[in-house]
Amino acid sequence: MRRVSLIAAALLSLTLAPQAGGQGADVLLNCAACHAVGPDRNAGDVARAPSPYPNLNGQSVRYLDRQLWAYREGLRQHPQMQATATALGDGAGAMARMYADAPAPELTFTASPGAFADAETLVMEGDWSRGLPSCASCHALDPDDRARLSPRLHGHPAPYIARQLRAYADGTRRSDPMGRMRAYAAELTEDEMSQLADYYAAWGPETDQTQEDDTDG
Ligand code: HEC
Ligand code: HEC
Repeated sequence: MRRVSLIAAALLSLTLAPQAGGQGADVLLNCAACHAVGPDRNAGDVARAPSPYPNLNGQSVRYLDRQLWAYREGLRQHPQMQATATALGDGAGAMARMYADAPAPELTFTASPGAFADAETLVMEGDWSRGLPSCASCHALDPDDRARLSPRLHGHPAPYIARQLRAYADGTRRSDPMGRMRAYAAELTEDEMSQLADYYAAWGPETDQTQEDDTDG
């Protein structure tokens, strides 16, 4: 972990140098201020508020690299991340690799079973009457297949997930290959989007309570 942070710091100072004149580059390029590398607030220290930002650790390098490209190209709209990705330039690939190499968070379902029943049906079975395959067929918790283009959604903050689904639905996020996520999101109702967001956000670090429930230890 420490080694990863040192590499990050080194990379950042490298990418920072040519940006010294650019306004706020030091803030924009301090990735770890928002996307902590390592367990951070997402594990262990559950007393602290969870991060409002997407957790990049252990996502596939292809996915991360593609997102930085998408911000740069305006296929994803978020002024601050667009400025960041532009400032990163050629450093994007290295940052994608660093986060991909960081250990994925260990997550468990923290809500009561059935709390998000409709969302769970969409996640596990989909809805073929609307041409929706199960979300789980592409979005896995276990990032064993590092070549995947579909990211882990588990543990992302609910407002982040809901915003992405709306952005696909209204076509302002166009980073998805062949427009698949745009087509799926357009089939979802507003209620379904927010319940799906709550379902995925309910995956969190193990607490004493969830550990007690887990007899396998
Ligand atoms: C001030 C906080 C902040 C900083 C600093 C920051 N980010 Fe972000 N990042 C965000 C937010 C907020 C989003 C979600 C934006 C959106 O809704 O599209 C995001 C999204 C991303 C995503 C897409 C995540 C996904 O799941 O699709 C990647 C990749 C990313 N950031 C990489 C970086 C890298 C690399 C750096 C440093 C060079 C960085 N970010 C610096 C706040 C930050
Ligand atoms: C056929 C595979 C597939 C299916 C099925 C699928 N997705 Fe996706 N999804 C993807 C891919 C690939 C991406 C990355 C697209 C991109 O680069 O923007 C993605 C991206 C997303 C994102 C953005 C993640 C982030 O970190 O920003 C969300 C949210 C999402 N999908 C939700 C869902 C939900 C909810 C379902 C089920 C209703 C679903 N997806 C079904 C392939 C799929």
